[in-house]
Amino acid sequence: QSPEVGRLLEAHELSAKLYHFLLKNTEHGKEAMDYLRSRGINDKMIDQFQIGYAPNRWDTLVQFLEKRGFDLGEMEKGGLLSARQEGSGYVDRFRDRVMFPIANRNGQVIAFAGRIMGEGQPKYLNSPESRLFNKSRTLYNLNLAKTSIRKLRQSVLFEGYGDVISAWEAGVQNGVASMGTSLTENHALMLKGICDEVIICYDGDSAGQAAAMKSLPILEQAGLHVKIAVISGGLDPDDFIRRHGSDRFVHGVIESAVSPVKFKLIYLKKNHILLEEDGRISYSREALKIIAPLASPTEREVYLRELASEVKVDYETLKQECNLMRQSMLKKQQVGDNNDNSWNNGRHKKVRVPAPNLLPA
Ligand code: CTP
Ligand code: MN
Ligand code: MN
Ligand code: MN
Ligand code: MN
Repeated sequence: QSPEVGRLLEAHELSAKLYHFLLKNTEHGKEAMDYLRSRGINDKMIDQFQIGYAPNRWDTLVQFLEKRGFDLGEMEKGGLLSARQEGSGYVDRFRDRVMFPIANRNGQVIAFAGRIMGEGQPKYLNSPESRLFNKSRTLYNLNLAKTSIRKLRQSVLFEGYGDVISAWEAGVQNGVASMGTSLTENHALMLKGICDEVIICYDGDSAGQAAAMKSLPILEQAGLHVKIAVISGGLDPDDFIRRHGSDRFVHGVIESAVSPVKFKLIYLKKNHILLEEDGRISYSREALKIIAPLASPTEREVYLRELASEVKVDYETLKQECNLMRQSMLKKQQVGDNNDNSWNNGRHKKVRVPAPNLLPA
């Protein structure tokens, strides 16, 4: 570890303590405290996640760091300060924002996310990438969640800070977030190192569901077993917990997470208008592409029967089309190895069946 990294780590740790102190103990922090309360964040959560407040001034952190002998230019490169637009010198990067420290997996603070109170842009101001902070290698809350993740061999992947914090309070302590940035192969490998299964629990809006479709293959390619928790009504996990409570979140959302196949079918259905013939035809075509490569005939039948009633087509017709598609996939070797030929007792030639996401669209 270079001396510069050491100094930046120390500055981040001290800044987190300062913001946390200002939130809890000063007049400046009162409005932020009210904001957090209105969002259902209690004192215990504020301490647990070391939430803080950056006052509406230009030089809170400048003064604080200068007094302690830090080099302000170095602090600017580390993302704590900004260079003045005009003239020389530095100003605080974070002003009048609720501060969420972001730690590395060892619990060292390496960045901040500052939320504006109420409306305004940007909603979250994040630290820039620095010697300390690499977004594609950082998962929010991994430091606190890793114990539970290892124990359960499972983690829950959220979109946002608030989701992780509310879920923790609801008893889900294996939650992490890739902080709005898209999930990377690195993130997936970090999780693969400590668990076997990931439950994707993104926002229930269309952006969240589209993001889940993107994260799914990244996690599967890292060798993780994946399930998807679907939240109805466009709520995010944080909103859902506040509106419906912890029990319904744990049982109705997390424990009700569905398989990737089921999720893809749900997602597909949302993007087709089943009241129209065209919609039903294209929906069945796309759905068959997901169902046909499934190794288990039982699994195929279950989904085909569901599909049959949705698109108002006879089950036998769909089955026929599904089998034709399956044959042509087998011929083109689009159907890979799923290491599971138990369904045919090994009597037939081994059929290679891929994760459906490996199939061309
Ligand atoms: N995000 C960000 N910068 C923004 C907007 C979002 O970094 N301007 C990241 C944050 O990590 C945020 C996540 O993307 O937590 C999810 O975005 P969104 O769902 O819009 O925010 P919420 O977490 O739901 O924020 P809040 O509940 O505070 O409104
Ligand atoms: Mn504290
Ligand atoms: Mn969102
Ligand atoms: Mn959200
Ligand atoms: Mn939210």
